[in-house]
Amino acid sequence: MPQHSAPAVPVPVVLDPAARDADAEHRLLRAAGPATRIDILGVPAWSVTDPALLKNLLTSPDVSKDARRHWPGFEDAVQTWPLALWVAATNMFTAYGGDHRRLRGTVAPAFSARRVAALRPTVEGIVDGLLTGLEAVPPGEVTDLRERFAYPLPIAVIGHLLGVPDSRGDEFRALVNDVFDTTLTPAEAAGNAGRLYTMLDALIAAKRAAPGDDMASALIALSEEGPEGRRLSEEELRDTLLLMINAGYETTVNLIDQAVTLLLSRPAQLDHVREGRATWLDVVEETLRHSPPVKHLPLRYAVADIPLPGGGHIAKGEAILASYAAANRHPDWHDDADAFEVTRITKEHLAFGHGIHFCLGAALARMEGEVALSRFFERFPDAGLASPREDLEPVASLISNGHRSLPVRLRPREA
Ligand code: HEM
Repeated sequence: MPQHSAPAVPVPVVLDPAARDADAEHRLLRAAGPATRIDILGVPAWSVTDPALLKNLLTSPDVSKDARRHWPGFEDAVQTWPLALWVAATNMFTAYGGDHRRLRGTVAPAFSARRVAALRPTVEGIVDGLLTGLEAVPPGEVTDLRERFAYPLPIAVIGHLLGVPDSRGDEFRALVNDVFDTTLTPAEAAGNAGRLYTMLDALIAAKRAAPGDDMASALIALSEEGPEGRRLSEEELRDTLLLMINAGYETTVNLIDQAVTLLLSRPAQLDHVREGRATWLDVVEETLRHSPPVKHLPLRYAVADIPLPGGGHIAKGEAILASYAAANRHPDWHDDADAFEVTRITKEHLAFGHGIHFCLGAALARMEGEVALSRFFERFPDAGLASPREDLEPVASLISNGHRSLPVRLRPREA
């Protein structure tokens, strides 16, 4: 890759907690070089936006996600940082080495290609049910498609997998929203985490009393004494459920939200699919590249000093932020990287991460996206955005990349 001459960007770049203009912030980070010092809600870290460097770091044993073992800032962060939950939970997301393999192994089989394919009819049924509900919206009326379609689908799917009763869906949703909100005070975030754990404990107690054929019950069984001892501690059990619920909700919501927004604001792209020049999976991949559901992912830590291209180094113990959205639009990686082009030959991206922590739910998310988009546009071919894309407000988050609402007219007003 060509060397970057770093223009004068103020260092550290202080990230806007509300991410009001994420594209501009990502441009600034890229302009500062392959990796640059940032301040994320008061915590110093390195944002990495160069795809080649980022892939190297994501596969290097010198980079860890285990804050307890490898981040001197950990104790302070758990007391005072609004994102404490992201670094303090004990599950595969924050594990290193053998612990990571063990924790990922407890749920990985449920996400195999075969198991995901077997889930397709369930996903199709959920999608069709939601679309039938939308038929009742009168022509010309504006409906919030994020609320009525993008949210309920992944919630129903993860609820089905985990065995969370539908009646609990809305409660979890509000709590998960706040996990991704990076404008909360530390006290608000801690209060939200406390409420999430109370709900998880209630779920675990209910499943212990009446186990089902679901992932929550299977994880609980692993946490109980068996012939080979316990494979999960009580804390790991709670935090693995926490991860599954968080990872499975908001991200897929954003994928559907962003894809619908991009297609409705660029009719020529939708025509490529309708006229057979691109597939729905092309739309999913280009959306993941152009507007990935996760903008930045906190945090990783240098286990040793790591030299940087062009000089300097990330010192042992310093924190690293994987800036996936900025990397996906790096000009060294894609021509005209800011353009949404479903017919691009190469749509490579880092939306699901890379290396050992690569998203476990990627195949499921892709399948949900494909089913949701194909069936939505088949059922509502004349749908249109009710406000211009530029007027849609982003969610207040450095992590989650979606809109607060997605106002859509499903059918034009009757003549
Ligand atoms: C479009 C939707 C999704 C996106 C963009 C997404 C993105 C990501 C990203 C960026 C990571 C972190 C990689 C890293 O450490 O840097 C991740 C990890 C993970 N995701 Fe997803 N995800 C999505 C959907 C899902 C779904 C539906 C599930 C499960 C139901 C899921 C489960 C997980 C799990 C368990 C991890 C942790 C893997 C590990 O640390 O080994 N994700 N995902």
